[in-house]
Amino acid sequence: MKAVRLLEHGGPLVFNDVPTPTIAHDEILVKIRSTAVNHLDLVEASGTARQILPIDLPWIPGHEFSGVVEQIGNDVAACAPGDSVFGTTSGMGAYAEYLAVKAAASARKPSNLSFEEAASVPVASQTAWQGLFTHGHLEKGQTILIHGGAGAVGAYAVQLASHAGAIVIATASTNDEAYLKSIGASRVIDYREAQFERVLREKVDVVFDLVGGDTQKRSFLVLKEGGHLVSATQPVSQEESAMHRVSGVMMRLTPSGDTLGRIGRLLEEGTIRPDVATVYPLQDAAEAWKDIAGNLPRVHGMSPIGPGAARRKSHGKIVLRVA
Ligand SMILES: NC(=O)c1ccc[n+]([C@@H]2O[C@H](COP(=O)([O-])OP(=O)(O)OC[C@H]3O[C@@H](n4cnc5c(N)ncnc54)[C@H](OP(=O)(O)O)[C@@H]3O)[C@@H](O)[C@H]2O)c1
Repeated sequence: MKAVRLLEHGGPLVFNDVPTPTIAHDEILVKIRSTAVNHLDLVEASGTARQILPIDLPWIPGHEFSGVVEQIGNDVAACAPGDSVFGTTSGMGAYAEYLAVKAAASARKPSNLSFEEAASVPVASQTAWQGLFTHGHLEKGQTILIHGGAGAVGAYAVQLASHAGAIVIATASTNDEAYLKSIGASRVIDYREAQFERVLREKVDVVFDLVGGDTQKRSFLVLKEGGHLVSATQPVSQEESAMHRVSGVMMRLTPSGDTLGRIGRLLEEGTIRPDVATVYPLQDAAEAWKDIAGNLPRVHGMSPIGPGAARRKSHGKIVLRVA
C-alpha cells in the first residue's frame, strides 16, 4: 500500500510503498478514505518532545481516520466488512491506504457526513468532550471560558458546552466572532484586543485552556472558588491552583469508541457540526503541514511567516484525502 512516512526526526515526509498491515483478534483493517492533521503529528515528527512522545522510525503519522472496514479480527462483533467507520488510531498512523486499528477505538460514521468531514472529528471532538465533562465537570447553567474557541478542539467545546446548557464565553480573533456566535458562544473576547481578565464582569465555573502560557496563568484570576481549570496544552501549576482554591489539571485524550459513538449521534441529528478548512491529497501531506505551521512555529522546521504558512480559512481542520 501507499503511505506517507517520516524516516528521521525533522526530516521530510516521503510517500511510497509499505507492506499492508495485518490485524490482531481485536482489530479491524480499514481502507482509509480520509485522515486529518493534528499539531501532535508535527510535534512528534520534530522529535522535540521525544522523551514524552516517542515514535518508532520509520513512522507513519496520523491519529484519526474515516474509511470502510475491509476485514475484522476473530473477536470483533461490533462491525462488519463494508461498514463505514471513523475513529482514532491505536498503533500505526493513518496517513496510509490501510490501517489496522482496535475496533474499540472506532464508531459508525455518521451517515450525513462526508468521509472528509468524518475524519476531522475524532481527536478534536473527544478532547473537547473529555475536557468539558470528564475533567471540567461542566453542568447546565454554569459559565465556561474557552480559550482558543475557534480552533479545532475549541469549536467542539463551544458546541458541546452550549448543548449541555452552559453559558459559553470564548477567546478568539475578531474575524471568528460571527462563526463562534453561530455555534453557541454567547460572548467572544478578541484576545488580540482585550485582556479577558479585565473585561469579564463575573467569574466563571470552568476554564478550558487550549492556548497555554500567559493565557493559562491569567485564567486563575477569572475562576470562581471551587472552579476547574482544564488545560489540553501544558501542565497546570498545583501551587497556584491551591492558592486560588480551584482544581487544575492537564488532560490527555483517552480515546473511546463509546464517546465517539455519542458524538456521532449528535452530528447525525445536526446538534453539532464539523468544520473542515482544507482538503489535500494524501501525497501532499507536507503542504498540509505548512498550513498549520502558523500556529506552531519552531516545530518540524516550520516558519510562521512566509508563503503557505497561513491557513486559507481562519478555522477548521485540515484533512488528507486518500485516493
Ligand atoms: N491534550 C490533548 O489530548 C490534546 C488533544 C488535542 C489537541 N491538543 C492541543 O490543544 C491545542 C489546540 O488544538 P487545536 O487543534 O484546537 O488547535 P487549532 O485548531 O490550531 O486552534 C488554535 C486556536 O487558538 C487560537 N489562539 C491562538 N492564540 C490565542 C490566544 N492567545 N487566545 C485565544 N485564542 C488563541 C487560534 O486563533 P488564531 O488562529 O486566530 O490566532 C486558533 O483558533 C493545541 O495545543 C493542541 O496540541 C491537546
